[in-house]
Amino acid sequence: MCKIQCLFAVSAFLIGLVNSWDIAITSGDQIEFYTNETKTSEAGMRFKDLSALAYDAVHNMLLFVDKQSDNASIFSYQLANKKYQSLVKKRSNENIQGLAFDPVKGLLFWTDANERSIFWVSLKDRANNDPYGNLLLKMNSDIPRAIAVDSCRGYVYWTNMNITRPTIERARFDGTDRTVIVDKNIYSPVSIAVDLKTQKLYWLDDREGIHYSIETSDLEGNNRETLLVGTHHRPNALTISNNAVYWIDWGYNTVWTIPKNAPENSEPKEIVNFVDRSPFVGIVANYTISDQIDGIQGCDNLVEMAKNKSVISDLSTFKISPDEGLFCLHGEKLNGKACKCSPGYKGDRCDVYVCHNHCFEGDCSIGGDGNPQCRCNKGFTGERCQSNVCDNHCLNNGYCSLDDNAQPICNCPGDYEGSRCETLRPISTTQAPLNCNCTKETNAVFLTPSSEIHYVDVTGCDSAWDSVRDPVIMALGVICGLLCITSTVLCTRVMKLKKRPRIKKRIIVNKNVTPMTARPDQCEITIENCCNMNICETPCFEPRSTIRPTLLDSKPGKEEKKNLISNMEYPEDY
Ligand SMILES: *[C@@H]1O[C@H](CO)[C@@H](O)[C@H](O)[C@H]1NC(C)=O
Ligand SMILES: *[C@@H]1O[C@H](CO)[C@@H](O)[C@H](O)[C@H]1NC(C)=O
Ligand SMILES: *[C@@H]1O[C@H](CO)[C@@H](O)[C@H](O)[C@H]1NC(C)=O
Ligand SMILES: *[C@@H]1O[C@H](CO)[C@@H](O)[C@H](O)[C@H]1NC(C)=O
Ligand SMILES: *[C@@H]1O[C@H](CO)[C@@H](O)[C@H](O)[C@H]1NC(C)=O
Repeated sequence: MCKIQCLFAVSAFLIGLVNSWDIAITSGDQIEFYTNETKTSEAGMRFKDLSALAYDAVHNMLLFVDKQSDNASIFSYQLANKKYQSLVKKRSNENIQGLAFDPVKGLLFWTDANERSIFWVSLKDRANNDPYGNLLLKMNSDIPRAIAVDSCRGYVYWTNMNITRPTIERARFDGTDRTVIVDKNIYSPVSIAVDLKTQKLYWLDDREGIHYSIETSDLEGNNRETLLVGTHHRPNALTISNNAVYWIDWGYNTVWTIPKNAPENSEPKEIVNFVDRSPFVGIVANYTISDQIDGIQGCDNLVEMAKNKSVISDLSTFKISPDEGLFCLHGEKLNGKACKCSPGYKGDRCDVYVCHNHCFEGDCSIGGDGNPQCRCNKGFTGERCQSNVCDNHCLNNGYCSLDDNAQPICNCPGDYEGSRCETLRPISTTQAPLNCNCTKETNAVFLTPSSEIHYVDVTGCDSAWDSVRDPVIMALGVICGLLCITSTVLCTRVMKLKKRPRIKKRIIVNKNVTPMTARPDQCEITIENCCNMNICETPCFEPRSTIRPTLLDSKPGKEEKKNLISNMEYPEDY
């Protein structure tokens, strides 16, 4: 008996865990769920560009906007059975900023900043809906952004982002009784929430410059209080739970939180960072309906509904059936039943994006035939880019890398070569072991061309004459010797050429003898030594009066130089 009960208790606990979440966030093409600051699961992978988000705690249902869906703009997602439903057709020029749902009357409200309007549809009485939404309020100078409902008293609240006259306003569910409730000391109210339990409004104000604030008031806009003022946030959306306020900040790319009853000057706490992901846009907290109605007075409709468990997660009251509404998410309905999917989608409801998880290591695109095509990242191949070109490419422990054309190349370890390191580098030729008369088996292994393995005595074979290697070595030796001799000969030639011309004529500098009678053993210098000092531009000659009186008149200096040069002795080969 107890066993079964315990089993039930455990499974109930597990189901509770699976379904538990603190906050849900729209980010890119999915809705992410966080528990205790950790992402626990995600839904909505089939969508494209999710933005505004709302939560219906009574029916445990999320409502969200996909900005790039083909035909529909607002969808519901039931958390209990994970079913999606498209609710509203897409307007051509829409810009849905805020979304709110009243579970009691089943009314969905949204703001459109481009149309400057608030629209609604009834999920209970769909017959009377305009498929694009019924107009609640059309504004001229106001720009509606965030929206929230008070299900107990039947009001819809919204913020107006007109820079010159920002306001917070409210009206009845039918658009009557429109009132401005806050218009002082407010700048750019980007988000608003209604707390049924404490009967308070919370709003997020993106103030001038770098400042922002979170403020509260009662449901008439009186008794204003400031929960938090800070700087450098770019707040985008706010939500409240039983105890805390959460908001998305595009300044720090962060979701922050602060307790509802935080003392003055409290610092917000960082919950999730989305730097590496698509920016978070919409956020809701899991503010359970039992927490919301805990101890509240005068809200019989909602309290009764919330206590009637059969209502929760039962959308039959909303008359949403598969044949109604926009049934094909990304495609057209054929004869009221089947869907003809747009290129890139498959599934009964055209709800599955064919590219989802299709390419492992590459980018997916939709081909002309509507099928997914992968463009693989460098180094990957296969129809779904599932294989690494380096996998098992290099044999024998070769190191694989990619060349410029992303083709694998192998860096082989010492003894191997080949494009895949498949062959053993020939130590001798592959024939050598066969020519050797090796009888002893050793641990050396050679692969012959026939791939047979031969055990050979390496030392015995090494000393043998090698018909290929040794002649090559000998030829190389001969070539080297010839080269040496040639270069020596050339060197000596060059050295000889470098020698300067020698001058044979000598000039006797002894002043007491004439050149004709001079003897070699007399004091004399070789003119070469003198000449070399200045390449014979100014050759040495004696002062005319003392040295060569006989030549005085007939031979001036220049002619003498000529004479000297003509007497030079040239080497034969000059
Ligand atoms: C949440 O996480 C903190 C630390 O990350 C841990 O101390 C705490 O016990 C967790 N709470 C729950 C309910 O898991
Ligand atoms: C903002 O409101 C003022 C006065 O209500 C109006 O004159 C102005 O045109 C509005 N601004 C925009 C951008 O609509
Ligand atoms: C609970 O909800 C069901 C289904 O909507 C309804 O038939 C029933 O009357 C409700 N019970 C109460 C006590 O409201
Ligand atoms: C979706 O939109 C396209 C063009 O915008 C239209 O041709 C098609 O019929 C629409 N599909 C559905 C199901 O409304
Ligand atoms: C190889 O050596 C063995 C003895 O060790 C000898 O009987 C045989 O004739 C030799 N073979 C060749 C090809 O030299």
